[in-house]
Amino acid sequence: MQNQQDSVHDSTNGRRFSRRRLFSLAGAASLLAVAGGALYRHFSSTSSIRVESFATSGTGGKKNILVVTGSARRNGNSALLADAFMHGAAAAGHEVSVFHCGRTPISACLHCDGCWSTGIPCVLEDGFDAFWPLLEQAQMLVFCSPLYWYNFSGHIKCAMDRMYPYSRKNRLRDMKVKEAMLLMCGESLFPRSFAGAAEAYRQMLGLKHWADRGRLFVTGVHEFGDMKGHKALAIAEQMGRNA
Ligand SMILES: Cc1cc2nc3c(=O)[nH]c(=O)nc-3n(C[C@H](O)[C@H](O)[C@H](O)COP(=O)(O)O)c2cc1C
Repeated sequence: MQNQQDSVHDSTNGRRFSRRRLFSLAGAASLLAVAGGALYRHFSSTSSIRVESFATSGTGGKKNILVVTGSARRNGNSALLADAFMHGAAAAGHEVSVFHCGRTPISACLHCDGCWSTGIPCVLEDGFDAFWPLLEQAQMLVFCSPLYWYNFSGHIKCAMDRMYPYSRKNRLRDMKVKEAMLLMCGESLFPRSFAGAAEAYRQMLGLKHWADRGRLFVTGVHEFGDMKGHKALAIAEQMGRNA
């Protein structure tokens, strides 16, 4: 009876395994899974980085750069990328401002067609009030977003949508922006996961006749702190220096 309870019959080959042996096998499998997960996280956060296009060198002139970030996490992964970029750009003598869409919420465009009806770009009163004056003085825009559902985060997407007044024929003013960059990071190990956002960015540049000055996609970063010490930071800083 004891033997029957302590053993499991394998009907496929008729062998009998002791329950103790099965438990040790399960324990070893869990240990392997935990160790494998740690190794996966380590290598994915340090080696799976893809830079799609290096920043082309700037003309050397000083410019006004606006960095637009898309995460609500302070000092999160994309915020560290943005910081590195800004550090490089400031060191090169550029005037750098930042707008954190994740901290100063901007609601979605209502397509109410009230653009410019009050003399300013938008009739909605929210974080956009602080965003548009920065937009109008910037010569270069740097979008820095985590990947959300294979696209820009909602925070930064709402800010982009609210730039709609500057694409209207009846606009009272336009932006001075001539160039843009895109910095993104995500959990996925596959650069193609960023393809949707990259294509939207490309089309945006085409519409506004902005020059693409570079794109940086960092794969395999997810947990808070994954970006700390990441080699992508040096690349982002260099993109800032070259801006
Ligand atoms: C709502 C949400 C959606 C996400 N979608 C994706 C995704 O589609 N692909 C991906 O690789 N990572 C995805 N992630 C993971 C983030 O891109 C990743 O954790 C990133 O490093 C977060 O950056 P942050 O610290 O700057 O917010 C998602 C995270 C959240 C919160």
